[in-house]
Order: sequence, then structure tokens, then C-alpha cells
Amino acid sequence: MKKQSSSHLHGLFDPELFRQQGHSLVDGLADFLDESLSGKRDVVLPHIDPAGMLERWPGDFGEDPAADFNELIGKVLSDSNNLRDPRYIGHQCCTPLPLAALCALLGNYLNNGSAIYEMGPANVAMEKRLIQWMAGLIGYPAEADGIFTHGGTAGNLTALLAARQSKSGFDIWTEGAMGRQPLTLLVSEQSHYSIQRAMGIMGLGEGTLSLVPVDDAYHIDLARLRRKYREAVSGGSRVFAVVGNACSTATGSYDDLEGLADFAEEFDLWFHVDAAHGASALLSGRYRHLLNGLHRADSIVWDAHKMLMTPALATAVIFRDGARSYEAFSQRASYLFEKDAREEWYNYAHRTLECTKSMMGLKLYLALRLYGTRVFSDFIDYTYDLTRSFAEEIQRSPDFELAVEPESNIICFRFLRPGVKDLDLLQKEIRQEIVGRGKYYIVQTRLRNGFYLRCTIINPHTKMDDLLGLLEEIRRIASPRR
Ligand SMILES: Cc1ncc(COP(=O)(O)O)c(C=O)c1O
Repeated sequence: MKKQSSSHLHGLFDPELFRQQGHSLVDGLADFLDESLSGKRDVVLPHIDPAGMLERWPGDFGEDPAADFNELIGKVLSDSNNLRDPRYIGHQCCTPLPLAALCALLGNYLNNGSAIYEMGPANVAMEKRLIQWMAGLIGYPAEADGIFTHGGTAGNLTALLAARQSKSGFDIWTEGAMGRQPLTLLVSEQSHYSIQRAMGIMGLGEGTLSLVPVDDAYHIDLARLRRKYREAVSGGSRVFAVVGNACSTATGSYDDLEGLADFAEEFDLWFHVDAAHGASALLSGRYRHLLNGLHRADSIVWDAHKMLMTPALATAVIFRDGARSYEAFSQRASYLFEKDAREEWYNYAHRTLECTKSMMGLKLYLALRLYGTRVFSDFIDYTYDLTRSFAEEIQRSPDFELAVEPESNIICFRFLRPGVKDLDLLQKEIRQEIVGRGKYYIVQTRLRNGFYLRCTIINPHTKMDDLLGLLEEIRRIASPRR
């Protein structure tokens, strides 16, 4: 039998090598940041199609080393979407605080899979403290509790699993839904697709979801919500929850949470708020009123990787009654909690989909300790204010049309070219050209009147000049003489 030895692997763990590589990585990242902020890097998203990108990243891994560390890092940086660039104004993924990114490295280095206390004692405590802090901002009572999940999609699913278990009227976790009265929930047609997906995953049928129309400002229409409820009930369904958006993904509109809470109370429904994007406005004296009524929700999803400058992923799922957080993956009826599970608050695996979890809380906790909360409040104020000013600019420009007044830092607008019949096609072409040129990264969305260009101002370096530059770039691309 061959003598077993791992000594040849030890070099990979050489502290000096690690030190050198770490220094050189951080130096490279600092240069990259500098170049991104000073405009030396001209491209936000490299213009390489997926097939071309595949070519650039071969899969012929040989047995022996064949690449240089710095070269590879440089290639990753230039082949990635550069969220550090102030002209990244696309999806709701923030440019994380460099310090928080370093803390993420610490988490990756320690690799404490924090779903159970013994596998991540410090992180478990930090996540508990974060949940308490967030619950305090929401205005929840002392018995509030929750957990961190890998993203808002998993967070929404977790909250809705608890809602279903709590309000289905029987032990659906153990007995299954087969042969029972159909269950459904009510949510606006502007909700994130993760809500529909959760319905599918829960086996309740994505197609059975009651999508409630929105008003002119893309808020859930409370009168039509009532009608939809009656329709669902008269159609034989049991409605177990109503979901509010705070704010919605496409236009960043905040639903009337007080109105939704009243409605949920009247019909004894679970009230969940998808505040993945917008809950961070609680930190802003100017904008926290958008979340009035949030404290009445049974559960809330809040993504730190959207508006708390934290690297992905870090989502808090918070329950007004912390005991409910044990229902998502309950093996018993809600009135028969696993007593020891609740006593073991520190073993999050009782309450999360994931068995191994990354050290999510650490990134936000350390940033909060090191920087304090004011920078986060300022970030909300800055991005929300700038979006409003940008909207005013758009309204002053006859060749642009604002889809709806922004309530958050998400804004949708389109270019109007006299004589053009297919405005949708024009917006799609504009976006393609903008992204292709690489100076800006923006996205698009379909709204009531068709396709719109969509921006999320989520980088504290983005200035009005960048946004005016975008309008100019669009004019250059789409002017009639083209
Ligand atoms: C309102 C809302 N909820 C949920 C999600 C999903 O979050 P995640 O991407 O973290 O899964 C998003 C993502 O954009 C969102 O905007």
C-alpha cells in the first residue's frame, strides 16, 4: 500500500506565500478602485458575449500549475461588471464598502459554516445582534427574532413557508397540501418574481397566485386587493397571506403598508413585507416615513447587499413574533413547537433552508462597528435625493419621459423620438448600444406603457454629471439623424 503523505500540499498553506499573495491582491484591488473612480477605466461591462467569454476562460485544467496569480486576478477584474464605476447604475447590487469586502475575505478565510453555533460562534452572535438592531429600527417588540439567509429570494421563501404553516389551518409541513383546499396569497403584480417562485416551490402552484393590479404610481391598489380576495375565496381558495412591496423592484414604489396591515388584520392573514431593497430607508430621517406600518408586518425580508453597502449575500428575515421563525421548517404543527429548537436560538439550522451558511452577518456587523450607522443613513439620503433630482432633470427634458416619480433610488424613463412608432424597440436598441459602448451600465423593464430604461443609483460616487452624461449619450445614440 502506498504510504500516505500530504507534505506536498503544505506549500499551498505557506503563511509567507499567503502574505505575499494577499498584499499583491489588495494592492491590485486598491489600484482598480482608484482607476474606476478616476475614470481611467473606461468600460463598466466588458463587451464580450457569453460564447466569447467562455473562450477566454478555458476549462483544460492540467495536473500542473499553468497560470500566474496576478495575471489571473487582472483578467477577472477586467472581465467582470465593474460595480465600482460611478456609471454602474444597473441592477440593485451595491458597490460594497471596501472594508466590508475585506471582512468578507475574513469570513471566507475562516469558513465557519454558521448554521450551528459550534461552526461559527462569533458570527452567530453577530447575526443575532444585527437582527436585534434591525428589529429595533423597524419598531418590533422585544420578542422579535430572525435569521440570515443567502439572498432575498431564499428569504422570501423562508418567510412564506412560515406564513403557510401558520395560517393554512392544518399541519401542512407534515401532512402535505394534497387533497386540501387550495391555498393562495395576495401580492401586487409588481412583486419580485421570487414570490411567485416561492409559490411554485411550496407546491401551491405559481399560477394560482392572485396578482393584484397597481395604481398609477405602481402601489398595490387596495380596492382591487379586496376584490381579488373575494374572488379567491369565492373560487374556493383559502388566502393565507398578503405581501407588500417596500419597495417594488421595477419602479422602487413603496406600497401602503398601513393599509395592507389593516387588510391583513381584518381577514386574519399573514402580512409579509418584501423590503429587500427598501427597508434600509429606516436609517434615514428623511425617508423612513415610506415604511410607516412596517412594524405591523408578521415577517420582513431586508437585504444588506442592496442598500447597506455590504457584499452579496446578506439577507435578514425578521419575524415580529420570533417564535414564528421556527415554523418555516417546522416538523410539527405551529402549536407544537419543538421546544428544544426554540431553546437553541443559536443553532440557526432549525430555521434556515441552508445547512452550511457563509459568515453573512460578519460583513455588516464589522462595518457597523467600525463606521457607525451615520454613513449608512447618509448613503440612503444621498442616493434617494440624487434620484429625485435626476427625475426633475428628466421632467425638464422634452425628449425624455419619466415613467413615474421615484420614491427610492430606482428610476425608469424612456427616450421619445418624434415620428417613432415602436418606442419599445427604440429603448431596447438604446440600452443595447449603451451597454455595448461600455461607458454606462443600465437595465430595462416593461411597465404599463411599454419598455423603459431603468437605473438604480446605488454607488455613492455617482454624481449628477454622470447622470446628465447618460442622457447626452442616449441623445447621441438615438437622435433622428441616425
Ligand atoms: C423587492 C425584491 N425582493 C427580492 C429580491 C431578490 O433578492 P436576491 O437577489 O437577494 O435573491 C429582489 C432582487 O432584486 C428585489 O428587488
